[in-house]
Amino acid sequence: MKIQVHENQTRSFFVICFFLLIETSQQRPQNTTCPFRYIYSFGDGVTDIGNSVRVLPFGPFLPAARSPYGQTFPGQPTGRWSDGRIDIDFVAAGLGLPNIVPYLSMRGSTSNDGVVFSVARSTVLDRLFLKLRGVDIPPYAIPLSGQLRLFKAYISSVCSIPQDCANIVGDSIIILGHIEANDIGYSLQQGKSIQQVETYVPFMIRTLIEAATELIRMGAARVVLAGSVPIGCYPYILTTLQTNNATAYDDLGCLKSVNDLIVSKNKLLQEAVTNLTTKFPNVDVYYADLYGAVQTIIQQSSVSGNMTLKACCGVGGQYNYDRRRFCGSRGVPVCANPNEYIYWDGLHFTQGAFARFTNIVVPPFLPVLGCTSN
Ligand SMILES: *[C@@H]1O[C@H](CO)[C@@H](O)[C@H](O)[C@H]1NC(C)=O
Ligand SMILES: *[C@@H]1O[C@H](CO)[C@@H](O)[C@H](O)[C@H]1NC(C)=O
Ligand SMILES: *[C@@H]1O[C@H](CO)[C@@H](O)[C@H](O)[C@H]1NC(C)=O
Repeated sequence: MKIQVHENQTRSFFVICFFLLIETSQQRPQNTTCPFRYIYSFGDGVTDIGNSVRVLPFGPFLPAARSPYGQTFPGQPTGRWSDGRIDIDFVAAGLGLPNIVPYLSMRGSTSNDGVVFSVARSTVLDRLFLKLRGVDIPPYAIPLSGQLRLFKAYISSVCSIPQDCANIVGDSIIILGHIEANDIGYSLQQGKSIQQVETYVPFMIRTLIEAATELIRMGAARVVLAGSVPIGCYPYILTTLQTNNATAYDDLGCLKSVNDLIVSKNKLLQEAVTNLTTKFPNVDVYYADLYGAVQTIIQQSSVSGNMTLKACCGVGGQYNYDRRRFCGSRGVPVCANPNEYIYWDGLHFTQGAFARFTNIVVPPFLPVLGCTSN
């Protein structure tokens, strides 16, 4: 896929203005110190802090480039698919490296604390793999192989001697994952059965492990592979696969068959991560469990009963979700207090949900990574 800068776009002026605002606003200083200097992230909307809205020609017209996205933080759209901060913002702050930037905003500038290559709505599997199976992905998505190409372009822009490049890659934590929730979500949304999607899973795991291996060969010393969240609880999945069969739902109101698929996929990934550790004993490879953390915050939701799985920003049906009247479209309402909701637009979490689940996942990792707080 070709990535262009949006010099020629009519709306680019406004887009650039609000991005400048964001990137110059520093987050609150952290007193955590970790034994690495940079964060590099690959993934989807859970970790995209502003790339998808910069992929031309469609990016600047995506919902995430419009109000009410960003209404909680920083008060205007940033390209994050949420009302405010997202997973990677909280992870970066937790690691004491809050000043991360979206790669497509850099235009040759250097990063402070790290670079995000994640692009919302992207997949692990390539466009062609899915196309051959009758599954389409959005034109602005950049599958994992494309994100890796961006990373290589970035690295070769900051160093030229191979050993220097390996040192820069090695002085980082690489966060890779969650992305395959989209491969599974698109396939289910476009009519594939659970059994059909199960056959794609080994390809997803292999692609993720190959990506991690490539990064390790480039010098990576710490790689975190994150499993998927329970996508059977997402309003868009619940809406698309809605059924009268009461036994299809678990006690949280989520679709069992979808979550079972995620659980078995996550298990396979975890096993593959263990195998990778054996293959590269000098590299720290970790599996991060987002599934359990999200399940916990759904259980603890302060929003009563059947509101828990509704989108805050959206309208229609049992879950406040209608793909033709998406959050950010004219006349689509926003809930009064997004912080009380888990889901923002039916496909993504609210800042409040991100804050709560990263607060479960990140703290136990800090001592493991050798990070100290003072
Ligand atoms: C209802 O859902 C359960 C659980 O997914 C499944 O085992 C069962 O076959 C379904 N029944 C019908 C009639 O579709
Ligand atoms: C992990 O390694 C074992 C032993 O080589 C192998 O049987 C298994 O398939 C591997 N699992 C994954 C997910 O790669
Ligand atoms: C939510 O629950 C309330 C009370 O049990 C009920 O009146 C209402 O119809 C439910 N709403 C939906 C959308 O299921």
